[in-house]
Amino acid sequence: MLPTFEVDAHRLRPVRAEDAEALGRHWDHLDVRRFLFDGCEVSAADAQALVAECIADAERACYGMWVIEQRRSVGTTCPDRPPLGMCALRASSQPSVAPVEVIYSLAPSHWGRGVATTAAQAVVAYALGPLELPSVGAVVDEGNVASAAVLRRLGMVRVPGADEVGPLGPLLWWRRTAGGDARPGEVSPPGSRPR
Ligand SMILES: CC(C)(COP(=O)(O)OP(=O)(O)OC[C@H]1O[C@@H](n2cnc3c(N)ncnc32)[C@H](O)[C@@H]1OP(=O)(O)O)[C@@H](O)C(=O)NCCC(=O)NCCS
Repeated sequence: MLPTFEVDAHRLRPVRAEDAEALGRHWDHLDVRRFLFDGCEVSAADAQALVAECIADAERACYGMWVIEQRRSVGTTCPDRPPLGMCALRASSQPSVAPVEVIYSLAPSHWGRGVATTAAQAVVAYALGPLELPSVGAVVDEGNVASAAVLRRLGMVRVPGADEVGPLGPLLWWRRTAGGDARPGEVSPPGSRPR
């Protein structure tokens, strides 16, 4: 069972199967899927499959996906608000860099306010703290400057030896270790990476 995090005005709660429809619409936004899904359309079936994988991860390995939503005022009984985005820990395609990768997405109407950074900080702190993972990695397209800015603020450092080439060009690897002393190092050849 994944924990829920309260961060500033937002709540990160474990994803549920019924979130797939709204998340699918969110991921299919042109500006969201541009880098996260290499610009490809995200169907309802794609979203359901990704959400199901993350729910299975949570049952198996205590990491998975959190939905980012506005916090409700104390005492209100209104139903969950639509997701603003998500942050997830997924099994890494380069375990020699880190055992898990962090990914995130946010509705474009909420960009530029630090929401992704605070959400990812909570999730990375959970991975390196209570989960006791030695490191968390991340891989971003070279052109995804907003995501690279988030990673820098998370205290991640580049692992250039792990870089790959993806459909949109160079894919740059980053990592943060539990001790905060991430260092570029020797890595194994990349395997297949879920994107
Ligand atoms: C990446 C993403 C989650 C960032 O969300 P966010 O809440 O706007 O992030 P933050 O506000 O915490 O930080 C964004 C940083 O990028 C900067 N930034 C945003 N767009 C930028 C651009 N086009 N060029 C340069 N910098 C940019 C912001 O200024 C900010 O940095 P600063 O505070 O140092 O100025 C959001 O852009 C997104 O959902 N993108 C689509 C999905 C995606 O690509 N996910 C990453 C793949 S793992």
